[in-house]
Amino acid sequence: MKVERYKVTDENPNMKNYEEVYENFDWGEIEKNFSWSKTNKFNMAYECIDKHVDEGYGDKTALLYKNGETKSSYTFKDMQDASNKAANVLKNEAGVEKGDRVFIFMARSPELYFSLLGALKVGAIVGPLFEAFMEKAVKDRLENSDAKVIVTTPELVGRIPADDLPNLEKVIVVGGTEDENHLDFDAAFENASKEFDTEWLDKEDGMILHYTSGSTGQPKGVLHVHYAMIQQYISGKYVLDLKEDDVYWCTADPGWVTGTSYGIFAPWLNRVTNVVVGGRFSPEAWYGAIEDLKVTVWYSAPTAFRMLMGAGDEIIKDYDLSSLRHLLSVGEPLNPEVVKWGMEVFNLRIHDTWWMTETGAHMITNFPAMEIKGGSMGKPIPGVEAAIIDDEGNELPANRMGNLALKTGWPAMMREIWKNKPKFDSYFIGEWYISGDSAYKDEEGYYWFQGRVDDVIMTAGERVGPFEIESKLVEHPAVQEAGVIGKPDPVRGEIVKAFIAVREGYDPSDELKEEIRKYVKEGLAAHAAPREIEFKDKLPKTRSGKIMRRVLKAWELNIDAGDLSSMDED
Ligand code: WT7
Repeated sequence: MKVERYKVTDENPNMKNYEEVYENFDWGEIEKNFSWSKTNKFNMAYECIDKHVDEGYGDKTALLYKNGETKSSYTFKDMQDASNKAANVLKNEAGVEKGDRVFIFMARSPELYFSLLGALKVGAIVGPLFEAFMEKAVKDRLENSDAKVIVTTPELVGRIPADDLPNLEKVIVVGGTEDENHLDFDAAFENASKEFDTEWLDKEDGMILHYTSGSTGQPKGVLHVHYAMIQQYISGKYVLDLKEDDVYWCTADPGWVTGTSYGIFAPWLNRVTNVVVGGRFSPEAWYGAIEDLKVTVWYSAPTAFRMLMGAGDEIIKDYDLSSLRHLLSVGEPLNPEVVKWGMEVFNLRIHDTWWMTETGAHMITNFPAMEIKGGSMGKPIPGVEAAIIDDEGNELPANRMGNLALKTGWPAMMREIWKNKPKFDSYFIGEWYISGDSAYKDEEGYYWFQGRVDDVIMTAGERVGPFEIESKLVEHPAVQEAGVIGKPDPVRGEIVKAFIAVREGYDPSDELKEEIRKYVKEGLAAHAAPREIEFKDKLPKTRSGKIMRRVLKAWELNIDAGDLSSMDED
C-alpha cells in the first residue's frame, strides 16, 4: 500500500531538531524545571495548581467545563481553593491519610477534578473509576485495592456494594444524599476551609491506580508515582505542543489513563487552560464545544474521529472550527483514511501517539515538526528508547515485525501491579518492557503498529479483557462456557464478540442473546457487553481446559487456526 506523507505546515514548528534533542536528552535537565529538584517536596497537585498561583497566575483560567447548556469556568486560584476544601473534607471528615486508596466514581464534573486533586494533596493514592462500571467491576477494584474511601454521586452510589467491602470506611456523595451512612460532600465542602497544608511526598510515592485489562485474570491495578510528572510535563510541551494561550481539550474520561495523564496532569503542569466536556458524545456537542470554547489543541481517539467522519462533512460547515491548530489521537491504530479526512476537513494533520496505561505517558508519537506517514505511530519521545525484539530479547532489524519493547527506566513507568508481583515481573525480558503489541520499524525509524500479541480487545478505544467478560458470562444460568474475542469493526476498531455454549435445557434463541447481553451490561459495564453473540454446541479448548480464543478468532475471520496440537479433540 502506498504511504501518504504529510509535510510540516507550521512555519516554526516545535521539535524541529528532534534528532538532536533525542541524542542529547537528559531527564535530570527536565527535573530542574521543578522546585522539588532542590527542596525534595513532592506533590503532583501542587505542581498542577498551587505553583501557578504562587507564581502570579492565580487569575488565569484553569478549567473550562461544559455540559450541554451548562458552563462554568475556574481560575487556578479557584482550583486551589476548591482542591484545598476537598482535601479538608477527605482528611477531616473521612480520615484519609497518606497512602490510603481513595476512589473517585463519577461522571465528568468540576467536583471530580476538585476531589481528585484534593485526594492527592492529602497524599492518598487515587483510583478513578469510569462511570459506566457496574457493581461487579466496582467491587473487584475496590476489593483488590482495599479502598478506604469512595467519592461518588447519587446516580452511581447504588452500584457500590459497601456491605461486602469491609475495608471501605466512607462513601462520600457529591450532589446530595439522604442516607445517613453516607457523607454529604456538598455540605462538608461548603464548611471546609480553603487552607490546606499539602502533604509533601517522596517522588516515588504512589499517586494513581488505574485498573486495566490483560488477556488473563482479573483487571490489574497499575500504580504510578508522583515522579511521572516530569514525563507528562515534557510530553505536554513536545507532543501536545502546549503554549501559554492554548485552550486544550482531551476528550478522554479520567477513568482511563489518557484522561488523567493528558486530561489533568500534562495540561496543568504546563499551566494551560483545560477543557472538560461532560455528557455523551454527539457530533453537535463536540463541534459545538470546539467552537464555543475556542479549543486550539484537541486530543481524541480514532473511534471518535471515525464517528465524526461517519456523521458527514456537511455538519462541519455549521461550526466555526478555525480556533483549532493542533490535533492528536491515541488508543488504537489511526487509519490512514482518518488522517486524510483530517486534512480535508480541518486542514490539519492528526498526530498519532502510542502509549499505554502501564507506560503512564507518551512513548512513540508524531511531533509537530515531523513529517507524518499516514498509518505510522511516529518515533520515540526523547528520553525513551524503543525497539522491536524477538521473544528472546534480541533486537530485530528494520522492517521485521516483532514485539514492540521499551528500555526500562522512563519516569512515568508503572511501579507496581497492585498486590501482584508475578504479573508485574511478567512484563519484562531483561532490561526490556514488553508492550504486548507487535510492530515494526521502517528504515527511517518510524514505528508501525501491527496488532496485539495477546487476546486483549480494543473497542472504541477502550481496553477490555476477554477473561473478565467470560467470567461474567458464565455466571449467567444459561451459559455453560464462553469464549470472547475482538471482531474487527470499521468504526469501533473491534467489537466484543462472545461464543457461547448453553447449558442443557436452555434454548439458544435471540431472546437469550439479548438477555445475556443485558446481563453483562448491567453486571459489568456497557462497553464490555458483547455486541455479537454466537451459540456453539461446544467451544475449542486445550487439554487443560483453557478456551482457545485463537481458534474462535480463526473461525470468525475464516482463516487457518494454526497449530492445533494442544486442542482437546474429545
Ligand atoms: C493499548 C493500550 C494510553 C493510551 C490509551 C489506551 C493500543 C494505544 C495506540 C496507537 C495503535 C494503540 C495498543 C496498546 N494503542 N495507542 N496510537 N496505535 N494502538 O491505553 O487501555 O492501556 O491500551 O492500546 O494496543 O497496547 P490502554
